[in-house]
Amino acid sequence: MLPTKEPDFPLPQATGSSRFLIFMILCLIMVGVVISFSWRIPPPPPPSEVKSDPLLAKGYDIYMRQCVACHGLKGLGDGPRAHAASIKPRNLRDEPWKYGDDPDSVRKIITQGGPQGGMPGFGPSLSPQDLRAIVIYVRHLGGKVRTDENSKGS
Ligand code: HEC
Repeated sequence: MLPTKEPDFPLPQATGSSRFLIFMILCLIMVGVVISFSWRIPPPPPPSEVKSDPLLAKGYDIYMRQCVACHGLKGLGDGPRAHAASIKPRNLRDEPWKYGDDPDSVRKIITQGGPQGGMPGFGPSLSPQDLRAIVIYVRHLGGKVRTDENSKGS
């Protein structure tokens, strides 16, 4: 039988070391949260015709934050969340628009969402200026003619 020998170094107090461990774990979680929030993949730079027009550039910015997950980088309806949605997000580029492509109809679908779900309503989360810019941008994306009424917004 082996003699049981006391360790000849003092063991750290159990309570103290477990508290330290918990503290370290909490720190790691916090660092993880901060990194995951700040470490977003930056969107590609906008094409020059978008960059040179302040309204389009603003719309592009909003699109890349709010819409790209479903409608995809180029509006083809192939974003990473496209498959999770109950209905397939619309291809805003190559298909005729189901709910109308005049500025009023587009504004309505963006604020109220799709009648069958799938497309969320952005209602109050977009300011009137943001809404105007995103309407102009998605219509541009779909190659719709920019009407005077649309460029003035309202
Ligand atoms: C959660 C996924 C999702 C997000 C985010 C999303 N959409 Fe949609 N969108 C959809 C789906 C799904 C449809 C199709 C709805 C239908 O057919 O009823 C749709 C339809 C549309 C339509 C109608 C197209 C047509 O054919 O008439 C427009 C315009 C549109 N989205 C613009 C936007 C804009 C602009 C944003 C960002 C502000 C956005 N969407 C964010 C999923 C999304």
